[in-house]
Amino acid sequence: MQIEGAVALVTGANRGIGKAFAEALLENGAVKVYAAVRNPETITDPRLTPLELDVTDPDRVAAAARIATDVTIVVNNAGTADLTPLLGSEPFDANRRTFDVNFYGTWDVSRAFAPILAANGGGALVNMLSVASFRGVRLLSGYSASKAAQWSLTGTLRDALAEQGTLVVGVHCGFVDTDLAAGIDQPKIPAALVAEETMRAIELGETEVLVDEASREAKAALV
Ligand SMILES: NC(=O)c1ccc[n+]([C@@H]2O[C@H](COP(=O)([O-])OP(=O)(O)OC[C@H]3O[C@@H](n4cnc5c(N)ncnc54)[C@H](OP(=O)(O)O)[C@@H]3O)[C@@H](O)[C@H]2O)c1
Repeated sequence: MQIEGAVALVTGANRGIGKAFAEALLENGAVKVYAAVRNPETITDPRLTPLELDVTDPDRVAAAARIATDVTIVVNNAGTADLTPLLGSEPFDANRRTFDVNFYGTWDVSRAFAPILAANGGGALVNMLSVASFRGVRLLSGYSASKAAQWSLTGTLRDALAEQGTLVVGVHCGFVDTDLAAGIDQPKIPAALVAEETMRAIELGETEVLVDEASREAKAALV
């Protein structure tokens, strides 16, 4: 689909990859970009339309869908990661929180906005996934499981929304230079690259974005 003239909504658009998505959408001609964030005061770019949204709060998700009825591209970017050991006696709460944001949050926002995308001609739904969707990482066990579940959800949404003409895009990559990966001493790609490759996929109608070598290798290892 064409980004020129689109109205987009990006969750977690105040920093990191979400901010890069919002900027890339504007640069590619989107006429309005809702920055759907927990704290709208963090949105200082006057080109963006702030919208209060905690993706784990069903009332807020429903309220956002009542406001942003003109949306044609939804980007489920908001996410969280905790370093949680796979085994041992650590509290389990962080893993539940991770699923609440990454998996249930994506699902709830997709549910709320699917009818809006349909009413506006189909549009696109983009889910920000990970190399961890393909391959579990022991120190990020809860995160990896949430990203695998989010990938599964993405495929099901793609099947379900095909009949309404919605392009469902899954975006995978290894480490990106953002706050989320700040404590990880590994090579990282810039957030702008993730956004650029995603814009290209939307324009070309591609359903999967493998941004870097890490994601391409992990995907290839599955077959
Ligand atoms: N960085 C990486 O290495 C990497 C690699 C692959 C995939 N990803 C994925 O890319 C996405 C963005 O990550 P990032 O690296 O940009 O992380 P980040 O810099 O930590 O930003 C996370 C964003 O998500 C928002 N968020 C968290 N919980 C939320 C909630 N309940 N409701 C609404 N917004 C919420 C944050 O808002 P606040 O500012 O309010 O906290 C923030 O805007 C995530 O889905 C992540 O899993 C990241």
